[in-house]
Amino acid sequence: MKTGIKIALSLALLSSLSFGGEQFAMSDSDRAMYAEMLENNPADIMVANGEQLLGNLGGEAAFAKYLGVSEDKLPEYIAGFPRYIEKFKMVVGIDQVLQAMMHDAGEKPFKLKSSDMFDMLAYTKSLANGVKSNIDIDANQHMKDAYALGQKTFDTKRGGRGLSCLSCHAPAVIGSVLRTQPLPDLSSKGVAVAATWPAYRMTKSSLRTLQRRFQGCMKNALLKVIPIGSPEMVALEVYLTKQAEGTEIAIPGLKR
Ligand code: HEC
Repeated sequence: MKTGIKIALSLALLSSLSFGGEQFAMSDSDRAMYAEMLENNPADIMVANGEQLLGNLGGEAAFAKYLGVSEDKLPEYIAGFPRYIEKFKMVVGIDQVLQAMMHDAGEKPFKLKSSDMFDMLAYTKSLANGVKSNIDIDANQHMKDAYALGQKTFDTKRGGRGLSCLSCHAPAVIGSVLRTQPLPDLSSKGVAVAATWPAYRMTKSSLRTLQRRFQGCMKNALLKVIPIGSPEMVALEVYLTKQAEGTEIAIPGLKR
């Protein structure tokens, strides 16, 4: 989807659109580029930057210690984010833990929307590559509440065109083509967002996080853009991570 696109479709109209079935709508040359990038993801260099940045804070050993987790359990633990962390009294993403770690080390934390933070988040999550996404939304009341808030945020119609996330990402419309882009299934049956973000976005030539991707859809569909790290954003991530449960984490992903 391109910015500035005119979306004047009601849900009824969306459901009546033809079904594409293809995961990507691309020209042949784009397809060739995609195939090449699958071999050699341009985001690898950004993930390497993230490794260096986490290294400055003591690396994965320091991250594990900060969370009170043994290093051998760390990948499993990472695969369960967003989580309720007692120390923060909040459900948080990995990036927010990294911010707190920087703060406690006496450094100025990277902004959640900065590319250094995206890189560091991507590297940290990649430590769980190959592990199945294992969020536990029944772990405590905070997680239950976050899941419920995420579902509400996903389902609620907002903004000038009266659209919700659900308008374009409901089972009934998945696969319909909107302005040449097939509407993706965000669950483990489709793109499994929890396992494939942070990802390199070819159309943006940069590494993006899942919450940054949410913002892209909000902007395109004229829903008010919610800040990264806010309770609603983290809750949306909880909600969609649950739907992609069980898929093996493979960071960085590669997206159109
Ligand atoms: C007007 C329709 C529309 C609305 C409303 C919409 N999306 Fe999307 N969304 C799309 C389309 C189309 C794509 C695929 C675009 C592409 O391939 O570049 C997409 C892609 C995504 C992706 C990336 C999937 C992947 O490839 O990993 C996520 C995550 C997502 N949307 C979440 C949301 C959330 C959360 C909301 C609500 C805040 C939302 N979307 C609202 C149409 C919409």
